Amino acid sequence: MKFFVDTADVPAIRDLNDLGMVDGVTTNPSLILKSGRDIIEVTREICGIVEGPVSAEVVALEADAMIAEGRHLAEIAPNIAVKLPLTWDGLKACKVLTGEGKMVNVTLCFSANQALLAAKAGASFISPFIGRLDDINLDGMQLIADIRQIYDNYGFETEILAASIRTVNHVTEAAKIGADVMTAPPEVIRKLASHPLTDKGLETFLADWQKTGQKIL
Ligand code: G3P
Repeated sequence: MKFFVDTADVPAIRDLNDLGMVDGVTTNPSLILKSGRDIIEVTREICGIVEGPVSAEVVALEADAMIAEGRHLAEIAPNIAVKLPLTWDGLKACKVLTGEGKMVNVTLCFSANQALLAAKAGASFISPFIGRLDDINLDGMQLIADIRQIYDNYGFETEILAASIRTVNHVTEAAKIGADVMTAPPEVIRKLASHPLTDKGLETFLADWQKTGQKIL
């Protein structure tokens, strides 16, 4: 499973990237707002750190304007994935931009039918939002499973990018289903390393080591 980090926070990206944990980055207008940075400037900086796809989202609503914004964003760096919303205009823009050889991440996906359309429009990535479905008492993980089954049934190459991941269990479940990629905030990725029994075991080992009176170095 590829790990994308869902943030425009450059120090956090750098930190995880140094550990080899970052296969790509996803941003959106809310994350750009949170960063307090200019979209072009911060995206260029991220593309200079991370080798994999860096999603940058358009804000236009009409296909031609989306295409123009997408082309502009794609000029930032060769590893830009233009992020388009799952609307009819977004699908039209997806078809055009992927036809030009650009990577496209179709976002705000909340149904299997939407994911089917994105694949037919040639999307490189589909981003189903798990957490936001769970928020309204629907089953976000079932959507990942449904899309996996449909894409496998027909051999679609669009990668399933499990998004709106809020918990470490979301990561496990999405990996078990076979999502190609997951994108999560840096704090969720860091939490993947935590286990109370690891902490407890380490505490015991260190206490016993003290008693031996030995040193390794
Ligand atoms: O990648 C999409 C993600 O940023 C949405 O997450 O937590 O705002 O639903 P969230």
